[in-house]
Amino acid sequence: MAKIKLIINGNEVTGEKGDSVLTVCLNNGIYVPTLCHHERLTDIGSCRLCLVEIEGQKGYRPACCTEANDGMIVKTDTDEIKRLRRSMIELLFSERNHFCMFCEVSGDCELQKVAYAHGIEHAKYDYDQPRVRVDASRSYFVFDENRCILCQRCVRACSEIAGHNVLDLAGRSAETKIIADLNTTFGESSCTSCGTCLQICPTGALIDRKSAYLGRMEQCNITKSTCSFCSVGCGIEVVTRDNHILKINGDWSSLVNKGVLCVHGRFEPIHDKKERLIKPMIKKNHSLQEVELDEAIDYISEKCKEMNINTDNAIGLISPKATNEEANIFVSMFRKDMVGEFGPYTVLPNENQTATLSDISSSDCIVMYKMDPNTLVIGSFVKLAVRKNNTKLVLVDDNKNSFDTISSIKIKSDELNLAKEFLSRASNPLIIYTSGISEDEVKRLSGLSDKAKLMGFLAGANSRGLRNIGINSKIDVSKAKALYVLACDDELKDNFKRYNAAFVVLQTSYLTPEIEDADVVLPSPIWAEKTGSITNIDGLVQNVTKSLDSPVKTNEEIMKLLIDRLSR
Ligand code: FES
Repeated sequence: MAKIKLIINGNEVTGEKGDSVLTVCLNNGIYVPTLCHHERLTDIGSCRLCLVEIEGQKGYRPACCTEANDGMIVKTDTDEIKRLRRSMIELLFSERNHFCMFCEVSGDCELQKVAYAHGIEHAKYDYDQPRVRVDASRSYFVFDENRCILCQRCVRACSEIAGHNVLDLAGRSAETKIIADLNTTFGESSCTSCGTCLQICPTGALIDRKSAYLGRMEQCNITKSTCSFCSVGCGIEVVTRDNHILKINGDWSSLVNKGVLCVHGRFEPIHDKKERLIKPMIKKNHSLQEVELDEAIDYISEKCKEMNINTDNAIGLISPKATNEEANIFVSMFRKDMVGEFGPYTVLPNENQTATLSDISSSDCIVMYKMDPNTLVIGSFVKLAVRKNNTKLVLVDDNKNSFDTISSIKIKSDELNLAKEFLSRASNPLIIYTSGISEDEVKRLSGLSDKAKLMGFLAGANSRGLRNIGINSKIDVSKAKALYVLACDDELKDNFKRYNAAFVVLQTSYLTPEIEDADVVLPSPIWAEKTGSITNIDGLVQNVTKSLDSPVKTNEEIMKLLIDRLSR
């Protein structure tokens, strides 16, 4: 990038060609107030707070929407500019109910901060705000229009970052408001509850139900970690206070997700109401009874001897929510071909055809086969490709699909050959499918085009890591005499079975009815209580960092105790 030089407030500063005046100011430590600007969004210059004076140009220019040029002479802090900004802020306070003392984000609010920065401590104009609606129709967050400053960060985030295009503006002048779809409630709209709008809102207009009134950010700890929901491996920031998670934000600096999250990564983990399993249990007289960990470990060891359980007849199943470190210890307890992945299985394409996440945005034609990732981050990636890059979406599905309206064509699975023409016309074609697809189907998909890349979307956060370790999902569990399932905090329902095993050990985080099927139940920390690494679908190894103290030992500690006891 070519360097440019500007004079700002009498000092020479440098920037890069293409920078806005605001970017040059921020990069050189020059304060310019902003509200509608966000580094991940296209600037629209709606709040007019960043007004600056540029020599040779009439009036005042919004720094966020003005390109910096070599030789420009800029003033950001004249008395007149400060007066204008102050008026702008006073008008914002006059338009809606911004009584900070009753607002959930008081202390963290960007509007409040710019007001204080401009010496505003009380409202200049009479309180005459209209009473506008509070939309509490969503499970995880509330939209309070009374606090909205119409900066449209939520609208732009919904379309530019999350790709959902649910939000928009309606009305004129004082009647202007944010609407979902064609002015329905959030709850009834096509909103997927990804929460990107909530994360980017500068005021208390979008309020998180879970963290509301539980503390300001300065009272909380923030831990950077990796989401454990799916194999994209989104960067997250876990906000905690007093060993409780208040919220999960997308990490704007993550190269994988660049801040966007989905409902499963942002909200579901913190609204989980399942009861934790703290004490180990062993089955006595057909019912599980709590015991100390030593007793449970002794019991497993005795049973292994008594029932002649060994590496030829014991099978291990491990959840893809396990870290690489946990997986390495787990596999050491079994014969290499006797460990499988716990949960849905995805057939992967040949290595030379395998796509990466970045192929979604660079593809000009995506065939999406029998999947509907509307509420997943990968769904956002596909929507962004279609909406921003004009990528053709060929949807192959026999059922109703959330992507119906943005697809170029929808075909039935027995009409797969119709996709060939689209693929042949594309320069960078991509085919995406997920778990539940047979090897034959994957073969048929890969035969559609010579140049298409394929992505078998892995269900689990660390499915790729498990495969790298050599864990084979296709083992025949029905032949196991003994079964050890390291389920971590994974869902047991529809996944956990005894098969024909005579002895079953289950390591899980929750007290759910399914545990009754096991002979021994061991506790497991949840995702937020672990430190280690997981490998995303692209093979990127990312850190998982503990944000909560755990009430139970780590999985590594428990497995090492067991290995030690079994080796005696
Ligand atoms: Fe530039 Fe709002 S930040 S106009």
